This record gives sequence, C-alpha cells and structure tokens, in this order.
Amino acid sequence: MITIDALDARYLSGEWRRAERSYALRSPATGEELARVADLGADAGREAAAVAWEAFLAWRRTTAFERAAVLERWQALMHEHAEELATTMAREMGKPLRESRGEVAYAAGFVGWYAEEAKRVYGDAFPSQAGHKRLLALKQPVGPAFAITPWNFPLAMVTRKAAPALAAGCTMVLKPAEQSPLSALLLADLWLDAGGPAGTLQVLPTADPVPLADALIADPRVRKLSFTGSTEVGRQLYAKSAATVKRISLELGGHAPFLVFEDADVEEAVAQVMASKFRNAGQTCVCANRVYVHESLVDAFTEAYAAATERLVVGDPLDERTDIGPLVDEQAVAKVSRHVTDALERGAQLVTGGERRGGLYYAPTVLKGVAPDALMMREETFGPVAPIVAFRDDAEAVRLANDTPFGLAAYLYTHDLTRALLVAEELEYGIVGVNDGVPSAPYAPFGGVKQSGVGREGGPWGIEEYLETKFVSVGLRREAL
Ligand code: SIN
Repeated sequence: MITIDALDARYLSGEWRRAERSYALRSPATGEELARVADLGADAGREAAAVAWEAFLAWRRTTAFERAAVLERWQALMHEHAEELATTMAREMGKPLRESRGEVAYAAGFVGWYAEEAKRVYGDAFPSQAGHKRLLALKQPVGPAFAITPWNFPLAMVTRKAAPALAAGCTMVLKPAEQSPLSALLLADLWLDAGGPAGTLQVLPTADPVPLADALIADPRVRKLSFTGSTEVGRQLYAKSAATVKRISLELGGHAPFLVFEDADVEEAVAQVMASKFRNAGQTCVCANRVYVHESLVDAFTEAYAAATERLVVGDPLDERTDIGPLVDEQAVAKVSRHVTDALERGAQLVTGGERRGGLYYAPTVLKGVAPDALMMREETFGPVAPIVAFRDDAEAVRLANDTPFGLAAYLYTHDLTRALLVAEELEYGIVGVNDGVPSAPYAPFGGVKQSGVGREGGPWGIEEYLETKFVSVGLRREAL
C-alpha cells in the first residue's frame, strides 16, 4: 500500500514512474502542502492510450468470472483500507471524516455490485424470418475508456465509472480532479494489489487538464468518454469527442428543486432537506439548490430549518464532530459569497449564516424570499446555501421546479400518494426523491436529462454504457441434419 508521502511525482501507466513535472497539493482546511503530485501532459495521455489498448487486448479475453474475482478482491481491500481512504479524502478535499467514511462504503458498493453484474452480461438469441438462420446479439466491451472525475466524490465517482468498465472487459484511463488525485491513486494501487493487470486502470493526475484530456479524446483507440463535472466543460468534451465518434456518458451540473407540499410533516421534511442540502457542504450535483415550500408552511418550515442549520458543526474535516468542512478552494468560496450578495441585493432576507468563517469556511446559510432571477436560483451554487421560496399550489410548484435548463435531481415531500406520483411524473429530471433527500445508490440509475447529461451510471444501466451490441447472423447448411 502506498502512502501519501510516497506519492511524490509518480503516475501509473502500467507501472509506477517518476514524472518530470509535479504540482503541490494543498489542504483546503489548513493550506499546508500535503504532497507533490505528477503533473502530466499530452505525451503521457498518448502513452496511456497505447498502454490501455494493449491491456484491453488481453483483459477483454478474460472471463466474466475472472474479472468478478478481481473486483471482489478490490472491494475487500477498500474495506480493509477504509480508514486510510477516508482520511486521505478528508485531507485533500475537506470532506468531514464521518461523511468520508460513508463515501468509502458507497464507493466500495459500486465495486461489489459490478463484481456480481459482470456475470450477468447476457446478450440475446432471437428468431429470424429465415428458417436456416440463427441470430445472436452479443454484448462486448466498448474498448479503452477515458474517465474524468470530480473532486467532490474522489472515490465514489471513480468506482462508479471504473467498476462497470472493468467488469465489462474495458480498460480505463482516469484523470482525477486536480484537487483530489490521492484518493484515486490509492484506489488504483489497491486495484493492482487485488490482481488487476497493469494497464487496465491507469490514473493520470495533472494540474492542467486540457492538453492531457485532448490527447486522450483525439486518440481513436480510446472508444469511450465518461465525464462527471460542469455542464460548461461537458459541452466542450462532447464537441471534441465528435471527431472520433466516441461513446459518451456525461453527468453534468444540476439545479435541484426541493418541493415541500402542504400536507408535509415539517420536522420530517426539514430532516430530508438538510440531508440533501448540506451533504458535502452543499458541494454535490444533486444537492437541493432551491427549496420551495407551500405558503401555509413556509414560516414554520423556515424557522425549523434555520434552527437545524445553526446546530451544524463547522470545522476541521478530521474532527469526528464536524458536519461542514471547508469548501474546496478559493473559487468555490468566492462563488458562494457572490451568490449570497447577489440574492440580498435583489431583496432576499438573510435568515441565518451569510458570511465567511475564515480560510475556506463558509457558514451554512438560509435565505428567504429569494427573487427568481437571483444567480443562486439559476446557477449551481455548490455550497452550503439554501434559498427558501413560497409557492401557492401544485401547478406553480411544478412550473417553478422545471424552470431551468438543468434536469439532474429533484425532490418532493408529501404523504399524499397521488400527488407524489403525479408530481414525480411531471418533473423533468433524471432522479426524483420522494420523501428522500439522498436517493443515490450503487444499484440505482444516476444521470440527468436536458443539460444535465447523457447516459446513466449505476445498476444494470451503468454497465450498458461500456458494452456494444454485436449482431451475429449464422446461416446453417440445410442438409446438415
Ligand atoms: C455528484 O454530486 O456528482 C454525485 C452525488 C451522488 O452520487 O449522490
């Protein structure tokens, strides 16, 4: 097992190697330098594509049972090294330790699930009009895949892509986020320890993603791109991928509405909105961005929500008591501050929070009466800020919820079954949580509609993204029997 100190300027391309350039990785909590990490460019990308292709030629011929066995060992090693993985994540991107431990389990869940699913990639045999023909639809791995993962889930977003890819027989080159490469490097090291052949999973950190990513996207041996990140970057990657007509999965930005209907139990609804909003300090694509509450409940809800928000412990991510750690970097804090200032200038009322707490810490914040054209009602805030707005009836709630170019996750709270199903059907989103602020799971489809993405990750849907369907038509000799 490698340690953070030993990660100095190395990268994985079939083997561990010292890189020519490195960059300083700094703790968002203290600013201290945690490690120097390889800073790789276009040459490394091209080399990794060649290694991934060679490794693919052998890996695609292994049986599903052999691949499942490696994935099972990988999952076991993740559990064995859970504390090290959680601590590394907490140190490099500031996720509180308790939550980081949860993410290790979530990430390992993808590995375990796809170890099983590898053996259920079935294909089909289907009838022909011609009596002498036998028709097959075979499922085969797409080929080497290139994955770009975000810093907000440094482990789970890696395994959500790598586990189905490797289970399907694909190889993967992974570019982790600049802010969280160590978690991904640890995962790759555990993959090798589990018996994953060299070159099947390569992790290439960089401080400057564009040259590296461009080299991999331009390479025709790389057959698939899977990206989790902003809609803006996703659009550029989508366009660049057109040149080599890659298979593509994009999990992009969201702007999740949370609708609290008039029949809701206020305390229960508050608990679910808290879980959705303040997970990872509001730095998830599926966090509630806009909280719409029926006008009859809005005062009681706001009071209870503000009280719960004020109980959150903001502090050192390595402290067991911490609920909210630092934001990931200065840009993130600047965006949150800009959104709050903008909302206040447009007439919102500050209920609690609303200020920086030193360093990269921002106080969990609740605002009410936020104007529909405020920045935070249109763009992802990606921070611990909840704007509360009242609505009059169900039709207005649905209209407000859908009034966005995004369509990743939406939430609603009601005990009226008819309302729950009808509203869930009307919401233009890939994921709907009904009385459930955290619906994500390794076995469930995750992904968006509209400008929130293309494709689904998780469950049987996730492995399909790494499979091609090949039609085989077999003409039989009639006289044979
Ligand atoms: C994300 O924010 O991109 C992932 C969140 C999740 O898996 O629930």
